[in-house]
Amino acid sequence: MIQALTPQHLNRIDELHHQLHLTSFVHTQGCETFAFVIEDEVIGFISGLLIDDSVELLNIGIDVNHQGQGYGFQCLKQWIAYLKDRNIKTIFCEVRASNKAAIRLYTQCGFKQTRIRHDYYEHPNEDGLEMRYDEP
Ligand SMILES: CC(C)(COP(=O)(O)OP(=O)(O)OC[C@H]1O[C@@H](n2cnc3c(N)ncnc32)[C@H](O)[C@@H]1OP(=O)(O)O)[C@@H](O)C(=O)NCCC(=O)NCCS
Repeated sequence: MIQALTPQHLNRIDELHHQLHLTSFVHTQGCETFAFVIEDEVIGFISGLLIDDSVELLNIGIDVNHQGQGYGFQCLKQWIAYLKDRNIKTIFCEVRASNKAAIRLYTQCGFKQTRIRHDYYEHPNEDGLEMRYDEP
């Protein structure tokens, strides 16, 4: 389940960012990160940034040894439910066009593609897909 980040989680969350080659936003002002914990082990995280009355999903990551077992889905679903409780009904995100696992996950959780940003990403150059979730 998702847990509000505590100082005890930080090393493991840093390790996961490193393992997954993700930029960390944990210390970015306004960013809220949750640890995703299974049987007392942190196996993932999710970070979001509140912008007015919506949230940008900055990052979600699941340890490579635990991917493909539905944990990303659980993590994102729980986070969406948490945001709903806070009356936040719109979530945005940006994803590399080649990141099929993330696109599949977001789609499965109700996100829709809203536009393509050509050559949005560098290293390597790649289109970005903007996706959006609206609470039904
Ligand atoms: C994206 C990520 C969080 C998904 O986590 P996960 O725990 O593996 O996902 P789940 O097991 O819950 O699967 C969710 C859906 O994605 C699909 N999926 C998972 N891995 C996939 C892959 N490598 N290729 C295609 N689809 C994939 C699953 O099949 C599932 O869809 P389905 O039920 O229709 O089969 C994980 O792959 C990850 O940490 N990736 C690296 C970091 C990253 O790219 N984050 C997103 C950008 S910020």
